[in-house]
Amino acid sequence: MSTITTTPEQPTGDKLSRRRALRNLLGIGIVGWLGSVLYPVVRYLVPPPLGEAKVSSLKVGAVSDVWEQPFRIIQFGRSPVILFKDRQGTYRALEASCTHLACIVQYKEDDNIVWCACHNGKFDLSGKVVSGPPPEALEPYDVNITDSGEIWVSRRES
Ligand code: FES
Repeated sequence: MSTITTTPEQPTGDKLSRRRALRNLLGIGIVGWLGSVLYPVVRYLVPPPLGEAKVSSLKVGAVSDVWEQPFRIIQFGRSPVILFKDRQGTYRALEASCTHLACIVQYKEDDNIVWCACHNGKFDLSGKVVSGPPPEALEPYDVNITDSGEIWVSRRES
């Protein structure tokens, strides 16, 4: 009695390379598809950092236009700045975000102080803490009045 054994057909070298090429092509396609799906998701979840426009000087307006209120909050780049004229008639500008919890401060003309209403923080006219919880002084800015009566606020060089 003779037995006949059959072996499965072995792929030839040509079929092997075609299979390998198809597998590689499929892998590249899957990686490309995953990249095109995941990249926008990752970009959405981790947005690129925004650079702050470097502002060193800002024209606020004419003196005659500005002083209808006791103080004015201006946007200096990303930082709010309080601009006011003290009792002696000196124009002053300070960082307007309280150094405690970033409430916007105001100028109290009656007491001649800069005051934070959130937790009763008080600053003197140069920005130093007088009382209350603020841990640091407010950053002072320079104020210049041009000959034509325009107010310019500038960041101090450190
Ligand atoms: S936020 Fe200004 S005193 Fe607290």
